[in-house]
Amino acid sequence: MKKIAPSILSADGSKLGTEIAAVEAAGADMIHIDVMDGHFVPNLTLGPGLIASLRKTTRLPFDVHLMIENPERYIEAFAKAGCDRITVHVEATVHLHRTIAMIREHGVRPGVSLNPATPLIQVEPILPDIDLLLIMTVNPGFGGQKFIGGMLPKVMRAKELISIIAPEVLLEVDGGVTLKNIRSIADAGADILVAGASIFESSNYAETIQAMQTLLTAPTLVT
Ligand code: DX5
Ligand code: ZN
Repeated sequence: MKKIAPSILSADGSKLGTEIAAVEAAGADMIHIDVMDGHFVPNLTLGPGLIASLRKTTRLPFDVHLMIENPERYIEAFAKAGCDRITVHVEATVHLHRTIAMIREHGVRPGVSLNPATPLIQVEPILPDIDLLLIMTVNPGFGGQKFIGGMLPKVMRAKELISIIAPEVLLEVDGGVTLKNIRSIADAGADILVAGASIFESSNYAETIQAMQTLLTAPTLVT
């Protein structure tokens, strides 16, 4: 079953608990939380303190995407805040295996993410050690950007690589996912679809999430 992960980056920050409850009621599978440090990406968001507060508002898993330099400095704090999965960027840490081991030692599922311009070859050596590979399909930093069309073949190749090296690794796609492209991204091999603006800027979260679920489960058209 393909999963939908609403990104609260595009939610109303003045009522995050209510926004999370709304997408939970609408059928979201997990909550995607984007952490930005103003160095790795040109934007700032939230830290472990706010995540710990939000942890009390929902039973949904927290899928935490760290867009921060040297994430190893903060793994313990994010683990204690109640993250279920912590994904770090391959471009942001020098000793990737050590960082992944650190995440696992804290009882959290580790993931690795790639910026659009970073080749897949960079994550090949780490695939057997992670639970999830996140392919960025926009340059990270902001919600509501346009899906970079050339990323679809990268998603397909990532799926192939995973099936050869570590078939249990989940493939997540993040950036510019909409009702128009969600099916083709899922067909390319994505297991988890992150969606920020397309859910939180829609007039009815439940209708949007249900429409996404319908698109993800509809049988393939034979032409
Ligand atoms: C971008 C973040 C994404 C973003 C996705 O830096 O990693 O999770 O919030 O938002 P949309 O779906 O609006 O592109
Ligand atoms: Zn993200």
